[in-house]
Amino acid sequence: MRVAIPAEISNAETRVAATPETVKKLIGLGAQVTVQTGAGKASGLTDADFESAGATIAPDAAATYADADLILKVRRPEASELGLIKRGASVIATMDPYDQDAALSVMANAGVNAYAMEFMPRITRAQVMDVLSSQANLAGYRAVIDGAAEYGRALPMMMTAAGTVPAARIFIMGVGVAGLQAIATARRMGAIVTATDVRPATKEQVESLGAKFIAVEDDEFKQAETAGGYAKEMSDAYKAKQAALVASHIAKQDIVITTALIPGRPAPKLITADMVASMRAGSVIIDLAVERGGNCELSKPGETIVTDNSVRLVGHLNVPGRLAATASSLYAKNLLAFVDTLIDKETKNLSPKWDDELVKATLLTRDGAIVHPNFLPKA
Ligand code: NAI
Repeated sequence: MRVAIPAEISNAETRVAATPETVKKLIGLGAQVTVQTGAGKASGLTDADFESAGATIAPDAAATYADADLILKVRRPEASELGLIKRGASVIATMDPYDQDAALSVMANAGVNAYAMEFMPRITRAQVMDVLSSQANLAGYRAVIDGAAEYGRALPMMMTAAGTVPAARIFIMGVGVAGLQAIATARRMGAIVTATDVRPATKEQVESLGAKFIAVEDDEFKQAETAGGYAKEMSDAYKAKQAALVASHIAKQDIVITTALIPGRPAPKLITADMVASMRAGSVIIDLAVERGGNCELSKPGETIVTDNSVRLVGHLNVPGRLAATASSLYAKNLLAFVDTLIDKETKNLSPKWDDELVKATLLTRDGAIVHPNFLPKA
């Protein structure tokens, strides 16, 4: 079985889908691994590191993909990459499949078996494969670091001979994996932290991290969590109550970090232009939801905007990629754990069990067709 690790072609991508550690393990599983030259560079991994782990270094994408049975990637392969991949090969990546019908068709037509890591079920067996968690955790941490860097003041309270510096007030909106890590990080850095979410289970989690929970806790809130543990889209009435509560709170905050997402939907708009206008000069908003439309109505993907009232509104793309070395090492381990379940230990070849719940949940395309129930072409 030949495994290929290409360099990512998106300029925004700094991560790589394997590390020397996972390459060694793939070889241990019986694979021959080819890594494209420079694939690990932005993650601090050299060709020599991969070579000493046992990989062959290929000079370009064509040589990397040539005859590969399995391709491990960070992002969905584009048409130019699919043209280099043999029919019947498997590709495992984060596929970002929603509203990408054309791209899914191109993958299906290329005859690849494409697995979307973000659809890995959140069950105990698959925790080690959960790329959403491994990457969101780092994004939450990095958001606080970015917020602190943009904020022109200190975060912790300091009592010095020259005067007392007050602790910064940090408000976290959306308390999933990223939000919880943001709370923990902001607390460690000495800020006074508050947080909000629509799922009731988050209240205790917020309080256990030493932050204060703020939310409209009505009947709708009590039912806002789906069986899968995600948030539902809230009613207009709830959103209005939530906005009123947030409006009065946000005006007193120094740094706001937003992480609110609803699977398969645009990010909920939680911060209006008026709320931004109410904030003090020098305050910072870090919008982690910017790639899904943003939680703040003024955010722009990939841009840092300074508003008329001097609020810094930060919309970094690919925040886990801002910690590329750590993000790659965790992502690569998530992929390795999944690959391990797809390999027949006797023949040392890929042999997916099509009725396995991990395969069924993640497989987007197979044998020339889109097969995932979320994306079946409408009759
Ligand atoms: P996510 O990335 O989909 O959303 C982030 C947060 O935004 C969520 O907490 C969500 O409730 C919140 N949100 C959505 N709409 C909002 C609104 N209008 N206002 C405020 N907040 C809003 O969530 P993530 O991080 O993927 O976590 C989802 C769930 O999965 C959580 O319950 C988490 O604990 C659980 N989980 C379970 C794992 C497992 O293996 N069992 C692993 C990781 C997470």
